[in-house]
Amino acid sequence: MSTLRDLAEEHTHLRPADIDHLHRIAGDWQLLSDLSFADLLLWVPVDADGTFLCVAQVRPTTAPTAYQDDQVGRIIGGSEVAHLAVAYSQGRIWREGDPVWYGDVPARHEAIPVRLRTADGEAGEVIAVVGRDTNLSTARTPSQLELNYLTTADDLAQMIADGTFPPPRHPGETTSAPRVGDGLVRLDAGGKVTYASPNAQSAYRRLGYAAHLVGEDLAALHRRLAGDPLDGTEAATGILAALRGEAPPRREIDARGATMLTRALPLMPAGVPIGALVLVRDITEVRRRDRALITKDATIREIHHRVKNNLQTVAALLRLQARRVAMPEARVALEESVRRVASIALVHETLSMSSDEAVEFDGIVDRVASAATEVAATEVSVGMRRQGSFGVLPAEIATSLVMVLNELLLNAVEHGFPPSDEADEPVPAASGMVPVAAPEVDPALRPEVVVSAHRFRKMLHVSVTDNGRGLPPEFDAERGSRLGLQIVRALVTGELRGTIELRAGVDGGTEALLVVPLGRSGLDGRSQV
Ligand SMILES: Nc1ncnc2c1ncn2[C@@H]1O[C@H](COP(=O)(O)OP(=O)(O)OP(=O)(O)O)[C@@H](O)[C@H]1O
Ligand SMILES: [Mg+2]
Repeated sequence: MSTLRDLAEEHTHLRPADIDHLHRIAGDWQLLSDLSFADLLLWVPVDADGTFLCVAQVRPTTAPTAYQDDQVGRIIGGSEVAHLAVAYSQGRIWREGDPVWYGDVPARHEAIPVRLRTADGEAGEVIAVVGRDTNLSTARTPSQLELNYLTTADDLAQMIADGTFPPPRHPGETTSAPRVGDGLVRLDAGGKVTYASPNAQSAYRRLGYAAHLVGEDLAALHRRLAGDPLDGTEAATGILAALRGEAPPRREIDARGATMLTRALPLMPAGVPIGALVLVRDITEVRRRDRALITKDATIREIHHRVKNNLQTVAALLRLQARRVAMPEARVALEESVRRVASIALVHETLSMSSDEAVEFDGIVDRVASAATEVAATEVSVGMRRQGSFGVLPAEIATSLVMVLNELLLNAVEHGFPPSDEADEPVPAASGMVPVAAPEVDPALRPEVVVSAHRFRKMLHVSVTDNGRGLPPEFDAERGSRLGLQIVRALVTGELRGTIELRAGVDGGTEALLVVPLGRSGLDGRSQV
């Protein structure tokens, strides 16, 4: 379906400022529709041929519609537009005439000219017409509520014709709140309540005001009700501003654990301030849910923070133990455990700082990778590089994946580029006990480990590639009693439900290929690369 802007640009000569005003009307006119118990159609004249085009439509939520069918895009002319033409050319609200029949639905037509005031506040021209069409099939003697609504609707209709409704919007405000059905209070020019709908009365009751609102000075009442004196003053100021003819921003009033959203609108038909309309909505439940979510979020972050602290304590204890152990093998084993624990702590540290259960994983990989080079045999300087991006990963994948990568990286550094006395044949960079001077080494042979990651069809593909001395001839990926690759296999096939393969690299060295599905966590929509 075409938008208001598309239709107006295609069929009319309206200027951008005119179209913006029509958008503002369409953003705020549900209020008028509900108060009028009527459908509203926004008509713009099509060039000079006397026809009108419907560019927007709204149905009342308080009454049956006069139009079962969508009217947007319809072009009408002839006798059908007579009332629109009068409103358009004479700039006045047209409301005489007999009911019109749509099939078996009788309807009353009215036409409200839409005026756009000039920048310096002059009356300006009529740019469109709002058709207000009431379904009369259920019409009966109106109740007090209905009479109040209709009176207010007429004031707002006059303000559309004057160019003073809708009021300018405050930055960041949406059209979503509040609506007529939530609660409506009408004030006279002195700020006293002349009418309060039953829903409005209920909303105030939740704030602790049980008496009848009619006759109350609403600004004073808001000041009294608000739990926080500053809020109360603000709420009161807003109402006083509306009484002066200004449109204050929406305000929330908190009292006794309840929250009410208020919107005050000036009523000034024909430029005369006659009072204000205050729409109120009880948003206690919405705010309670917001607060619950915020607390839950903070609690989860706090838990991650504590887990991180505990893991760091465990690492510190193991480090302490390692220093006291005399047997070199035992010491190495303990030091390795320190690193394993520390790399998990890294994930929890990141989670404790993020706002949800997902982590930006690249930073973690880079830290684990540089830690791995540091522990490498001191005489070899191994370069580390990351290609591509892991993107954002859900926490449960991140924790296992960081363990796996830690093992693969340590293996690449430790076994790919072992200290020379361990190496079967000398590795170029590892030859001699002094650090190798750069010019002597073929750059292609400079010890290097590359971690690459990319996503393809909801799978994360990771490889850890080194250009070291390669896997030993007796190497068997499925067997082997060492701990490192056992951890890797257990995590990859278990927690991660992925696959791992260790093989000889294309240009020598070793390549570990890892594929992990990302779909099952339900976080997929958020995980962008
Ligand atoms: N990138 C690699 N280059 C060469 N050999 C490797 C590489 N990765 C693994 N290996 C071989 O596979 C063996 C098993 O690795 P694994 O990580 O299971 O044990 P480890 O590293 O020897 O001990 P740890 O339990 O401390 O990790 C290694 O001892 C090594 O011989
Ligand atoms: Mg290992």
